[in-house]
This record gives sequence, C-alpha cells and structure tokens, in this order.
Amino acid sequence: MNEPTPEQSKSAQFTSAQPTLEALRLELAELTQAAEHEFNSAISSPQLQQAKTKHLGKSSRLAAIRGGIGSLDKQMRREVGQLCNAASHTIEVALETRQAELLKLERSTQLEAESVDLTEVLGEISVGHFHIITQTRRALEDVFCGMGYQVAEGPEIETEWHNFGALNFPQGHPARDMYDTLYVDWGKPMSTLLRTHTSPVQVRTMTSQPPPIAVVAPGRCFRRDTADATHMPVFHQIEGLLIDRDISLGHLAGTIEAFTSAFFGEGFTSRLRPSYFPFTEPSAEFDIQRPDGSWLELGGSGMVHPNVLEACGIDPQEWSGFAFGFGIDRLAMIRYGVDDLRDLWTGDMRFLKQF
Ligand code: PHE
Repeated sequence: MNEPTPEQSKSAQFTSAQPTLEALRLELAELTQAAEHEFNSAISSPQLQQAKTKHLGKSSRLAAIRGGIGSLDKQMRREVGQLCNAASHTIEVALETRQAELLKLERSTQLEAESVDLTEVLGEISVGHFHIITQTRRALEDVFCGMGYQVAEGPEIETEWHNFGALNFPQGHPARDMYDTLYVDWGKPMSTLLRTHTSPVQVRTMTSQPPPIAVVAPGRCFRRDTADATHMPVFHQIEGLLIDRDISLGHLAGTIEAFTSAFFGEGFTSRLRPSYFPFTEPSAEFDIQRPDGSWLELGGSGMVHPNVLEACGIDPQEWSGFAFGFGIDRLAMIRYGVDDLRDLWTGDMRFLKQF
C-alpha cells in the first residue's frame, strides 16, 4: 500500500483501521436509507436543500467515504468506488423525485392562494337600482311629462354659439364670467366648450322645430370648480322651455307653482325673485318654501329674450315664452338626505345600497 500523500491523509477517513467491505456496504445502505427518509419528510424546498447538503454535500459522510477511497487497497478501492456511486445515484434519484413532488405541491398551494372565488357574489343576488341622481331626474321628467312637456336632449360638448352667442351673451360680455367655462381644444380657440348649463338645449330645440314648444332637457353640465361638499365640476341641470302665443310671466309663475306641489307635495309653495340672465327678460330666481316655512333657492327662470327667439329664427312678434333651469344634484341630496355632494360620485356600495 502506498504511503498516503499529505493531501490524501487530510481527507482520508480510514486512518486507523481499514473497514471491511461488508461494514462499508452496510453503512452506505444505511446512509441511503437515511437520506431517502429525510428527503421524503422534507415539506419545503429549503428544507430539502438542507437535507441535500447534509447527505450529498462536501462534508457529508458519503463524501468522506469517497475521500478515503484513495487510502484503500486496490481491490477494495474498486468495490467501494462502485458502492459509493450506486449509493449516490440512489440518493440523487430520491432527491429529484422529492424535488419534483415539492414543486408540484408548492405550485398548487400558490395557485390555491391566488385563486379568486367567483362564487362569492352568489350568496346574495342583488339586481341593483338606478343612482339617486337618475331616480331624481326621472321623477322630474315624470312630473313635467304629466304637465305636457316632452324630454329633449343636446350634446355635452357645445359650440360657443349655442352655449353663449345665441343666448344673448355678446362676445366679451361680463355675464360670461359667471360661468367658469371649460374650453375644448378643438377648432378656433374658445369656439368649443363643455356646456356650462342646459340652456343651449333651448337653442337646439328652437332651431330644429317650429313653435309651439314645450320641452324639458335634463343633462350633465360642466364648470371650472373645485370639488367640495356643495360644488362639483360636473353637475346636472334640468331646463324647461315653453314657446307659444301670448305667454306671460303669469304662466311661468303658475308652472313653477304647479311643478312645486306635484314634485315636493302638499304644503310646498314657490316664489319668483327678480334676477338677471342675458337670455331672459325679465329674469327671476325661483325659491321653494318648505312646510316649516324655510326657503330653498332652486334655480333661474324668465321670459325668453326676443334676441334669443330671433337668433333661433322665431318671430318675437308672434311668439313668446318662458324658460327655467335648476340643479338636479341638490334636489337629490335633499330628497335622500345626503349632505356631501361628493358622495353622489362615490362607487362605494355601502353608500349606494342605502337608496
Ligand atoms: N342657465 C341658467 C344657469 O345655469 C339658469 C336659467 C335657465 C335661467 C333658464 C333662466 C332661464 O344659471
């Protein structure tokens, strides 16, 4: 037997007595069994990695036995080498098998964790309902339809002419400043805008059908406003327009009064207060009185200005009429007891479900 080199003696494990082949065979069988057992009881990839290091790593018993082969005699060397190869092959196969099992297990656990339970909503099937602004708009339409009005519509993106020009706001007129207008970058500068009120629908109706006219036009309006409890840059109005022969301010007052009791109910009355709008003359704000005597400012109204009739191709000598317009959102808030306008824009089901 050759003297072990210093290198070999460092790693050699059989320095004292030469183990018998039988003893090594037994030990390797035990090592293999122990490794298999430990791999199979590993329940996570990191745990399996630890077991791998322990049984196949540089400081494993198997590596030590291999390291000692050099110090064995020739015949033993070959036999032990074969035994070691067989053992490490079995151990590696056991490792790979467990690795694959754990990977599959971990993937399905992950899938399970990430899965979405689509049956969740089936517990309670809800058909939903219209938003309270829609409910209010429809209630208003019902009342006015009952009074003989038809529902008209117009675009939310308007021309400067429909929103201002035809409504008797001359270019540069200070009354335009009352409306914090959002302009659209389209065509000539300031020629296209988001409608600041529903009044352009008056113009669209009068330019597209001959009198007599009786329409209401509910819809979205836009102004450059910062959102708070009582303001929103997007809000809703409903416009009313009636054109016929011999229409007077008395008809306007009577119509507002009839609407007030039909919509709000018994005990509610209305009043007109002098005001100013370029497109009505005379103009009036109208208020609603609640049964407790308190007043609620609702909107603007007035007799359609002759200039507006003329701009729309209607002869002011033959026809006259009145118009009114008011916000829908505040009515919805009062009707449903909401005290922050911003709540009307929430998608929160806990809020929406209440109505
Ligand atoms: N359009 C006006 C506004 O938004 C309200 C109004 C409508 C006034 C019709 C008179 C006639 O302030």
